[in-house]
Amino acid sequence: MFAIPLGDDKAELRPLEVWQDEEFLAHMDRARELVDPWIPFASFATDRESARDLLRRYAEKQAADTGRLYGIWLDGTLVGGVLFRIFDTASGNCEIGVWLEPAAQGRGLITRAAERLIDWAVYERGMHRVEWDASAANTKSIAVAKRLGMTRDGVIRQNYLYRGVRHDSEIWSVLAPEWKARAGR
Ligand SMILES: CC(C)(COP(=O)(O)OP(=O)(O)OC[C@H]1O[C@@H](n2cnc3c(N)ncnc32)[C@H](O)[C@@H]1OP(=O)(O)O)[C@@H](O)C(=O)NCCC(=O)NCCS
Repeated sequence: MFAIPLGDDKAELRPLEVWQDEEFLAHMDRARELVDPWIPFASFATDRESARDLLRRYAEKQAADTGRLYGIWLDGTLVGGVLFRIFDTASGNCEIGVWLEPAAQGRGLITRAAERLIDWAVYERGMHRVEWDASAANTKSIAVAKRLGMTRDGVIRQNYLYRGVRHDSEIWSVLAPEWKARAGR
């Protein structure tokens, strides 16, 4: 229950909540090698307590309607997730973040999960702009933004200081009228 199928009978998008801290930590331990080079997300969850804190922060965001977090399960194993890092109903702007563990890469799971989030943001919540921010070197992430039909708004030069290195950030987005006009919808 509370699960959305992700294109086949093996993958599901489900809420990921505080009580799942142990499962989340085990998944983060599998995901670190893929996630750590790009974003600090996995480094926020390094033991039961910090994993729980991260999930609690998103539960609090959800309660305040300022963010959300969902997990992706493949064959019953938590393998990744998607989130609204920012969800600002006053301005109609939100930002999506994503991650996977290596075993789940290359199946289209993130693209399909992000589609569900954008559908919800645009059709149910009336959001106007869905944003995707990635290091310019993160070609896998930028490929997802392209598959989602997003437009590259621009580059913020060297604004992302991560592990002592300054990266260019690419900002991609899709606007509600563009999302609604997508072919096949
Ligand atoms: C970014 C990240 C989530 C992308 O993962 P991904 O598996 O490439 O993305 P998707 O789940 O959308 O899958 C797309 C891949 O599956 C393939 N694929 C297979 N079946 C597919 C389908 N039915 N639909 C779409 N793509 C499919 C695509 O060809 C693509 O592979 P390719 O890049 O080799 O061409 C992953 O690399 C990751 O977790 N990186 C670390 C964390 C991170 O950088 N997060 C983003 C920060 S901005």
